[in-house]
This record gives sequence, structure tokens and C-alpha cells, in this order.
Amino acid sequence: MRCKKQFYPPITDFHNAERRSKVLARGSSPTALSRDGVIQCGVVMGWTKRWHAWVMAHASPYVDAHLRPYKEKLFAGLCGRVLEIGPGTGPNLRYYSSCVHWIGVEPNPFMHRYLRAEVERLGVNAMLLSGRAEQLELDDESVDAVISTHVLCTVPDPEGALREILRVLVPGGRFLFIEHVAAPQGTCLRRWQERLGPLWKRLADGCHPDRETDRIIEAAGFERVFVHRLSLPFPLVAPHILGVAIKSATSRISRAHSA
Ligand SMILES: C[S@@+](CC[C@H](N)C(=O)[O-])C[C@H]1O[C@@H](n2cnc3c(N)ncnc32)[C@H](O)[C@@H]1O
Repeated sequence: MRCKKQFYPPITDFHNAERRSKVLARGSSPTALSRDGVIQCGVVMGWTKRWHAWVMAHASPYVDAHLRPYKEKLFAGLCGRVLEIGPGTGPNLRYYSSCVHWIGVEPNPFMHRYLRAEVERLGVNAMLLSGRAEQLELDDESVDAVISTHVLCTVPDPEGALREILRVLVPGGRFLFIEHVAAPQGTCLRRWQERLGPLWKRLADGCHPDRETDRIIEAAGFERVFVHRLSLPFPLVAPHILGVAIKSATSRISRAHSA
């Protein structure tokens, strides 16, 4: 799907944009559209994804209460075309100003209902796609900023996702992130993260509590990376990073080069 000609549909087009993107989404086979347009990917996966969407809808306000002061600062001043990978149920939408043209890439179709409600409540200028962060259906250098909050812990190929983020960012564009990360090696918490990792991954939709996302971002090829570390009162995933990674103003990364 090429988004160039239909960038920024007005809010009334949100539903159609969503349906269109579901039909055309890559990497979500086998796909058959049910009456309500939700992609059926097998009963078990369907229930897991539906369950996760429900959990996120109820847990997000609690998580967001802890992150609010950080998000307010991090997202202040955002303007233009902003891509959010894995927006979930949309807890970040309230932080964007009216000059943001929001593009969301959310592969779990059961999140879309919550996202749509939040988009409509806030009147955000939005377009939702169903692809994956590792294979963005967006042109090279087509967005001004990319947002990820609690997503790189879950994507199967975080290095691939960051390559795609670099590709779609304009030169000098910013990647803003808030992620939980592995505790330092040798700590008690790290041992628990590694021990409980497989179970946690099953319960939390593929989330890796012991992923060194900080190192992965730093090695991804941004010109500059600013990282702030903090600890939040969450079980097992307390260590967090938030920050900004800036793409070089002179770099040119096309789909062919990033593959
Ligand atoms: C823990 S939730 C975080 C949701 C939201 N960003 C937040 O802060 O509440 C992780 C999100 O990443 C999405 N996700 C998982 N794999 C992904 C991928 N490969 N590309 C993009 N998003 C993905 C999930 O569907 C889910 O919405």
C-alpha cells in the first residue's frame, strides 16, 4: 500500500483508512475479513490478541499515570507527520498537538476499536495502518518523527524495525522512545527477568523483559542518541529509558539500502 496520495484523511475517513489498510496489510496472512472487518488469524491467536487489547485498554491509564510527566516533555513541540509504531489502545494520542498528522501502525486489529474511539474523542488527524514496524508501508523520508512507547520490547525484530524507522524518517528527523529495558547484568532483577522471560513473553504478547533495547537503539545508526534512565514501580520491568535518537541531516537511506 502506498500512502502518498491519501495522507492525512480527515477524521471521518479514519474508519475507511483502517478497513483499507486491513485488506491491503502485508504480513498478516492468512487473512479473511469477517463481517466487522476484523482479520481472522486463527481462533487461538484471535483470542490472545483480543485479550491483550482488553488488558491494554484497562492497564494503560495506570501505566500512563506514571509516564505522564515524561511524555508531556518528550512529545512537546511535535508537529507535522508523526508515525507511531504499536500505538496499542492510543494512550499517547492526548499528548499530540493539533499540528500533528498522526499515522499509526498497529498490527493487532483488536486494538483498533479503542484507537478509533480515542482518535474520535480527541479529534486527531489520523490514519491507521495494520502493518508491522519491521515492514512499514510508507515511503522513504516521509515522516518527521517516529514514536515508540513499550513497543521495541515486543517486536520480533527490533533491529529491523529501527532500520525501517531510519528509512522513513526525513533527514534530521527524530525517533522518540520510552521503553523498558533489561536490568544490568549480574543483578538480582536481571536474573528474574531471564528466569521469568519465557512465561512473561507468553502472557504479555511477546514482550521480552530482558531485552537490551538501549544498546539496540544506540547501535542502530542514528547520528545522535540521548538517553535518560529511570526506574518505575512496575514488577519485573522497572528499568526504563526515554530519549531521542536523531537521524543524520545528510543521510539518505532507501528501502533498497535498508533491506
Ligand atoms: C505493550 S503494547 C504498548 C502499546 C502502546 N504503545 C502503549 O504505550 O501503551 C505493545 C504494542 O506493540 C504492538 N506490536 C507488536 N508487534 C509489533 C510490530 N511488529 N510492529 C508494530 N507494533 C507491534 C502490539 O500490538 C501492541 O499494541
